[in-house]
Amino acid sequence: MLLAGTETVATAMEWALANLLNHPRVLKKAKTELDTQVGDHLIEESDFAKLQYLRCIISETLRLYPVVPLLVPHLASADCTIGGYDVPAGTTLFVNAWAIHRDPTLWDDPTSFNPERFETGRVGAYNFIPFGMGRRACPGDGLANRMMTLTLGSLIQFFEWERVGDDKIAMTEKTGISMCKVDPLELMCKARPSLNVLLS
Ligand code: HEM
Repeated sequence: MLLAGTETVATAMEWALANLLNHPRVLKKAKTELDTQVGDHLIEESDFAKLQYLRCIISETLRLYPVVPLLVPHLASADCTIGGYDVPAGTTLFVNAWAIHRDPTLWDDPTSFNPERFETGRVGAYNFIPFGMGRRACPGDGLANRMMTLTLGSLIQFFEWERVGDDKIAMTEKTGISMCKVDPLELMCKARPSLNVLLS
C-alpha cells in the first residue's frame, strides 16, 4: 500500500508539473480556472466539479506518462484468446498501457500534450487505462485523483512557476516497474499574492 500509493502519485505529479512548464498556455489556462472558480480559499474537494480543466491536465499526464506503464503482471487462470492469440493457462501477461495510450489508431496526434482532448469526455473505456481495469485494477484511483487534484491545484493557485533555464524540460523516461523522469525535475517558484491573503 505504501509503495503503490506514494511513489506513483509523487511521480505522476512530477510529470504533470514538467508538462505544465513545457506548455505555458496550459498552465495559464489552469491558473485562470483556479482563480475564477476557487478564488482565494485553498482548493478543497467541493471545488472539484468546477475544475474540469485541471482534471483534464491530470488525465492527459497519465495518458502520455502512465507511471505504471506495463500495469502489474497478470496470470491467465484459464486458457483464453487475447487479440486473436491463444494464451494457455499459467501464462504471465503484460498489458502495455504506454503503447495503448500513444496508439495513433486510438488517439489523434497521440504524442502531443493536449488536455483539451479529455474535455468532451468521449474517451473509449479500453483506450485509457493508467489504473488498469477489471477486478485487479488499482483500488487507489479515487484517492490518487483526489490527492493529485488538491496538490497540483494548490501549487498552481499559490505559486508562480518557472523553468530553471530557457531550454524545455527533458521528458525522457527511465525504464522500470514505475516510470519516472531520467532527470529529476528542478523548477523555480515564488509565492503569489493570494498566498498572503490565505495566510493572513
Ligand atoms: C497516480 C497514481 C497511481 C497509479 C497510476 C496507479 C496505478 C496502478 C496500476 C496500473 C495497478 C495495476 C492494475 C492492473 O494490473 O490492472 C495498480 C495496483 C494497485 N494500486 Fe495503484 N496506482 C496509483 C495510486 C495508488 C494509491 C494512492 C494506492 C493506495 C493508497 C494504490 C494501491 C494499489 C494497490 C494495493 C494495487 C494492487 C491491487 C491488486 O493487485 O489487486 N495505488 N495501481
